[in-house]
Amino acid sequence: MSEATKTRRLRFEIFRYNPQDPASKPHVEHFELDETPYMSLFLALNQIREHDDPSLQFDFACRSAVCGSCGMMVNGRPALACRTQTSDLPTVIRLYPLPVFKLIGDLSVDTGSWFRALAEHVEGWVHERALFDENAPEERMNDDVAQAIYAADRCIECGCCIAACGVANVNGDFAGPAGLNRVARFMLDPRDRREDADWFDIVANEDGVFGCLGMMACHDVCPKELPLLEVYGFLRRKMLAAGLGVGTAARSG
Ligand code: FES
Repeated sequence: MSEATKTRRLRFEIFRYNPQDPASKPHVEHFELDETPYMSLFLALNQIREHDDPSLQFDFACRSAVCGSCGMMVNGRPALACRTQTSDLPTVIRLYPLPVFKLIGDLSVDTGSWFRALAEHVEGWVHERALFDENAPEERMNDDVAQAIYAADRCIECGCCIAACGVANVNGDFAGPAGLNRVARFMLDPRDRREDADWFDIVANEDGVFGCLGMMACHDVCPKELPLLEVYGFLRRKMLAAGLGVGTAARSG
């Protein structure tokens, strides 16, 4: 077998801890397996669970970067395990749960409670301008606005940006990149009756967009490559204008 086709032996260092078990202590366990072509971390972890330890906890649902449930720290960097190929990693692979979120066990964290609390805090749903009328003709939305809303809606709430964010790691009240993106999504929506002044108390403070220190790790790790820099610029201009009581800026660049 040539060097180019030689099978690599992968060594996994995996964080283990079951908070439900008083006897459990946080520690690292090692597993080894032979890499196969097109092996993702999803496949590798399933192989470990099937052959080595059925108690290993981790989350997957869609296996295609859509559901957002498989975020974890991969060699120190937040990533979706289902779309991470082992061939892109060195032979030693260190897997830890995402920080910030409540640990369920091993590599599984509860992102759902975090995002639900955020959605309740910012009331992350459309506050209609008018009561629904099933007989009303469909209203056309400006294409650019529709595209901007669509871009923000591509967030899968995997939590990778939150885990990478230095501020979210030390300030539990910080809305974080995904939270600010969610706010921007409703601020952009012409069907939502809330005005910039209504958002001011929620967004224009250190738990909102002015808490961001601009380290931009969120931008580096977002698996959907959301335009987070644009989002922050949009929110800052909006809140500055609302604070000064002047007209609001359109989203661009
Ligand atoms: S399993 Fe759904 S995003 Fe990875």
